[in-house]
Amino acid sequence: MGTDEHMYSISILREEEYMEFVLNLSDELTILDALDEIRYTMDSSLQYRHSCHHGSCGTCACIIEGTQRLACMTRLSEFPDRKISVRPLDSFRIISDLVVDISSMVQKMPVNSYLRDSELNTEVLPPDGIASWVRFENCIECGSCISACPVSERFLGPSPLAAIHTEILKRKDPDEIRELRALAYGETGVSGCDKHFICSRVCPVKVSPGKHITELRREQ
Ligand code: SF4
Ligand code: FES
Repeated sequence: MGTDEHMYSISILREEEYMEFVLNLSDELTILDALDEIRYTMDSSLQYRHSCHHGSCGTCACIIEGTQRLACMTRLSEFPDRKISVRPLDSFRIISDLVVDISSMVQKMPVNSYLRDSELNTEVLPPDGIASWVRFENCIECGSCISACPVSERFLGPSPLAAIHTEILKRKDPDEIRELRALAYGETGVSGCDKHFICSRVCPVKVSPGKHITELRREQ
């Protein structure tokens, strides 16, 4: 056993019961690495989502020791007692084990909000007095904010409202802006938010959906 390897207990919620897997892992590995190891060596039926392995795709979000996190960006070394619980995101339909159906969130996103200009356009320089660009749209649609929000079922929810706000700021067509404002200030809009701001705390890419909702309220 290497010096950075230890026995870990990983308890995974499967069909409403936690199943414990005890295995030897390097402290430097991530929760996603541990899930891979369990799947490859202990239980090939374990279901979870992943794609990029580096915090870009949002597919691996789950609840790790009670908090919404990206499994690929959460290291085992963050849990010194080496007992780690993993369960699927709340507020979404569970498909299997850690796999949830995020279509309810995606359907609330404004149409075409995924499209954006290339971020690799080196011809475009920041204006005088501005040191660097900050990406305007960071959301990786992981669903963590919706899962963490205690009232997400009664309104559009944090990430769709953050997307609606960025679209309002971005778009020029008055009819499109009117439609987006109708969503933001309609029955399922910003009035449903109770200002818990847990959405902003759990967001792995600092979208700060709570701040977007606050700004939408101010711009009403
Ligand atoms: S706003 Fe943040 S937490 Fe919510 S879906 Fe987008 S990336 Fe995930
Ligand atoms: S696998 Fe893509 S964010 Fe984790």
